[in-house]
Amino acid sequence: MSTLVIVAHPDLGRSRINRKWVDALEKDGRVTVRILSEELIDSHFDVQAEQAQLAGHERIVLQFPFHWYSCPPILKTWIDDVLEHGWAYGPGGTALEGKDLSIAVSTWSRTDDYTSNGRYGRTMQELTSPFEAIANRVGMNYSPGFFLNGVGDYSDSELNDTATALTTWLRSSSSCLIDSKVSNA
Ligand SMILES: Cc1cc2nc3c(=O)[nH]c(=O)nc-3n(C[C@H](O)[C@H](O)[C@H](O)COP(=O)(O)O)c2cc1C
Repeated sequence: MSTLVIVAHPDLGRSRINRKWVDALEKDGRVTVRILSEELIDSHFDVQAEQAQLAGHERIVLQFPFHWYSCPPILKTWIDDVLEHGWAYGPGGTALEGKDLSIAVSTWSRTDDYTSNGRYGRTMQELTSPFEAIANRVGMNYSPGFFLNGVGDYSDSELNDTATALTTWLRSSSSCLIDSKVSNA
């Protein structure tokens, strides 16, 4: 299955985790990697170019660091620009129907924080549910994805292992949670 990984980091030059993930995916060479910060022109995207990328792949993975319990604004801009009425939804908007959608997310806070009884009182599944709603709206099949919580607990070499885990996960279709190494309890 052809896979497109959309990388939505505002500044990969300052990234520790998502940069490693991109490097591993590019080295692995099995997926197409699209770095949104390199495609932005005057705060918007070339809609036809982005749509052509989406049309050319069967599985789409949105990769991003969690920012304020959501995706960074660059991904919201991309969604607003690219998933056009008449293309992604509405009359004649069938371009994405039947494709797969997943997310790959890194968070500073730990897995325990993202539980009903945890610090934020919300699970990652709840907080990322808009992506499932988007998939449903445009006729895509949503499977939750790849989650790395508690990134501050990881050494560089352990982060390299998570990058390997991401490339392995991309060859499967199941969801994957890399648990925080240290509990908040
Ligand atoms: C503006 C901003 C908002 C953030 N909000 C959250 C958040 O809501 N929850 C969380 O767990 N981490 C949050 N973080 C931490 C990032 O998720 C974390 O640093 C990132 O996943 C690390 O990936 P990177 O090294 O590729 O930047 C935030 C970071 C920034 C800069």
